[in-house]
Amino acid sequence: MTTTYTLRSASPAKTRAEAVVVGVLATDKGPVVCEAGADVAQAWGRKWAPLLSSLGVTGKPGESVRLPANGVINAQLLVLVGLGSEPDDTSVRRAAGVAARSVPNAASVAIALPADTPVLVDAVTQGHLLGGYTYTAHKSAPTKNKDSAGPGDVVVLSPIARKAEAVSAFQEAQVVADAVRLVRDWVNEPPGHLTPAGFAEAVSEAHRVVTKGRGAPKVALEIWDHDTLTERGLGGTLAVGNGSDAKPRLAKLTWSPKDATTHLALVGKGVTFDSGGLTIKPAATMVGMKGDMGGAACVIAATLAIAQLGLPIKVTAFAPMAENMVSGSSFRPGDVVTMYGGTTVEIANTDAEGRMLLGDALVLATEESPDVIVDVATLTGHLQLALGDKVGAVLGSQEIVDAVLAAGAHAGEQHWQMPIPEEMSERIKASKVADLLQHDWVRWGGGLMAAAFLREFTAGLPWAHLDIAGKEINTGGPYGHVPSGATGFGVTTIVEYAKSLAAG
Ligand code: BES
Ligand code: ZN
Ligand code: ZN
Repeated sequence: MTTTYTLRSASPAKTRAEAVVVGVLATDKGPVVCEAGADVAQAWGRKWAPLLSSLGVTGKPGESVRLPANGVINAQLLVLVGLGSEPDDTSVRRAAGVAARSVPNAASVAIALPADTPVLVDAVTQGHLLGGYTYTAHKSAPTKNKDSAGPGDVVVLSPIARKAEAVSAFQEAQVVADAVRLVRDWVNEPPGHLTPAGFAEAVSEAHRVVTKGRGAPKVALEIWDHDTLTERGLGGTLAVGNGSDAKPRLAKLTWSPKDATTHLALVGKGVTFDSGGLTIKPAATMVGMKGDMGGAACVIAATLAIAQLGLPIKVTAFAPMAENMVSGSSFRPGDVVTMYGGTTVEIANTDAEGRMLLGDALVLATEESPDVIVDVATLTGHLQLALGDKVGAVLGSQEIVDAVLAAGAHAGEQHWQMPIPEEMSERIKASKVADLLQHDWVRWGGGLMAAAFLREFTAGLPWAHLDIAGKEINTGGPYGHVPSGATGFGVTTIVEYAKSLAAG
């Protein structure tokens, strides 16, 4: 079943739908239905409060209670979802996600969550689309049919449904949510399927879908194959990919609208599987390494979304793709690699492969003379250890870091600044045989050292580095709008950051 979303200003009690979702706030005086669902509470009248109490409804985030409506309202099923104490965009996005999983395949669902501003309309729509995501590509029927059915019609109820700002927020939310879902599909895809060539193919397909037809945005796509990478001398990417039978690729996307005011360059790490190479990973930590292309997926999907939104900024995205494997042609600790642009790097740890791809791609980005460069990468376990699996790390030029942090706060993602202390410059320059040392086996500050290494390739341009290691896959159960498995982390932040650049 394909799901259709519509925005309407109807009353939730009168709406004819299989299920109606109503938000409940947790207040000092107990659970209180949000204003958007007030007439549902009215329909029950004096029986409402005892009903909530006997159902054990508190309004806390993540809570969801379903009950048959028995003709009290026009819908057959009432779904109460907790909003916590603050009905803001974050709690609404999460509650909409919970709602999506509570009624995953009803023929029709109407949602009465706080939606009286364009920002909240966006949060409800995005939250529902993201929370209801499932990945069933490799399940066989009937599981596949059951899990991926999805609801039929979803009606987002909003008192401002007829206002132009609400309609555009509603449409934009769907574009951005589709971009996040695309990243999830790519990250969830098994690494034997999504090799560098397979990834490049998938990017071409996504690009074709977005740019086909009249009125579609014009985005230029180049896929560089192994020969092209060799001719151009992308030494870092080639060194990492050399141990694999599946050879590297690079995707370059350009969105260059006539009214562009600023030029943003994006770079994403596209390691389709990271075994660690000869510095092989311990068995258990290798498991999630199909997601090591999450940064590349993020910048590609974000660029396509920015183009679909018609944002008046130029975006050039580079996504180097390689598989880090063990074989007779793997790169070795002790090797010296000449990066794109000529910098030489002494390898000490083949598991610190991401910076080798990113170094090449950052230099390519600087050659475009952008106003700002942002890279996104599942780069270090160090910053996962420091910040956990929900908060991303941002490092780099203060002005850009500030703007990215602000964008994240609007986009429903948490990021935290980490420093690049001075001593990191010494650590990366400690090689006796090459310009830079890739890794030094000092256990402390590995994520900060990685950022210092990347900075060497940015030509002093304003730059921010997002280390999203551990955020690309949710290894636990679903929460809010985030399912188990691939999360699509980073996309909403990058699109929001692009919006802030477009706004000047
Ligand atoms: N792909 C990993 C980082 C990673 C860790 C991603 C956990 C997702 C979840 C990266 O290539 C890596 O192996 N990094 C090393 C860094 C070290 C060698 C400086 C690490 O995490 O130990
Ligand atoms: Zn690695
Ligand atoms: Zn890696």
